[in-house]
Amino acid sequence: MTGKIIGTGSYLPDRIVTNDELAGMMETSDEWIRSRTGIAERRIALDEGTTGMAVKAARRALESAGVEAEELDLILLATSTQDHLFPSGACEVQATLGAVNAAAYDISAACTGFIFGLASAQAFIRSGMYRTALIIGVDCLSKIMDWSDRGTCVLFGDGAGAAVVRAEDRGMIHAVMGSDGTKGPVLSCVARSEGNAFNGRTPELGYTQMDGQAVFKFAVKKVPECIHQLLDESSVDIDDIDYFVLHQANQRINESIAKRLKQPLEKVPMNIERYGNTSAATIPILLDELNRDGKFQPGDKIVLAGFGAGLTWGAALLEW
Ligand code: COA
Repeated sequence: MTGKIIGTGSYLPDRIVTNDELAGMMETSDEWIRSRTGIAERRIALDEGTTGMAVKAARRALESAGVEAEELDLILLATSTQDHLFPSGACEVQATLGAVNAAAYDISAACTGFIFGLASAQAFIRSGMYRTALIIGVDCLSKIMDWSDRGTCVLFGDGAGAAVVRAEDRGMIHAVMGSDGTKGPVLSCVARSEGNAFNGRTPELGYTQMDGQAVFKFAVKKVPECIHQLLDESSVDIDDIDYFVLHQANQRINESIAKRLKQPLEKVPMNIERYGNTSAATIPILLDELNRDGKFQPGDKIVLAGFGAGLTWGAALLEW
């Protein structure tokens, strides 16, 4: 048995923030952001949180799969911006959906979280422990941005994507995951500083900090490496892949990955122009858009691949 994606869904907040609007708030420009990243605009959550967005994407995924919430055995929610430290966002989604038979927990692997969730669900399904899983990638990065730091805040946006995975004979072929905790400081966000009643310090929330060039170099090297590992271990030729659905962090990163893989850009769809980097949500949002546009045919081979804080990276090979 293998875990097959049988339904997808996504949700983006209505509020559009253009590069020009940001240029009115800080010293930046549409030209700088577009030419460095490919981003034109992003969505920002105003009156909704991470769980609210996750629920909307999840409902759409369940509907597209034709699966009732009670049928779910497992809910994995990948995020860095959960509304509460506890309970988990996955438990909040479970409660709202009424997925009374599911075990639910969050996955912390930043932008790689959806891939880690998919690979984890796959392991449960292969072992025979579970049959039907909901995997959600969701982030509300606007709440952990320093909106005066033009080097980071212009890159990110809010959104959610989800997929329902069920035990079938064919579906996911293979997945790989990797982590290098020694590179943690390259992309980080303090959850809460160490203040308490005894040390006299007031706890403060932190904001995203990033060494952009280090992340860029890591991504363009590690993602092709991990895709090659995925395909070698699966004995699948790279030219037989129909689509590479990559994490949407930077258009130039994805163009460089395509070049290193010697693959045409037509096989590397992108939507970063409209949404920016929605972290754990980019891959399932793009997957959902392509699925709803009817881009995938049964039997198509699709590689999903991402990277993010940790540092973490991962890839999955699907047969649609
Ligand atoms: N608008 C205008 N100027 C900006 C700016 C902005 N939003 N952000 C930074 N700059 C300035 C810098 O201050 C710097 O000025 P200086 O030369 O006077 O010091 C100049 O632009 C160049 O900055 P630099 O950091 O060298 O730019 P870059 O070409 O490396 O592009 C990123 C920066 C962040 C776009 C790029 O490094 C990147 O995309 N990295 C990957 C980040 C990522 O994907 N993170 C998430 C991973 S999941």
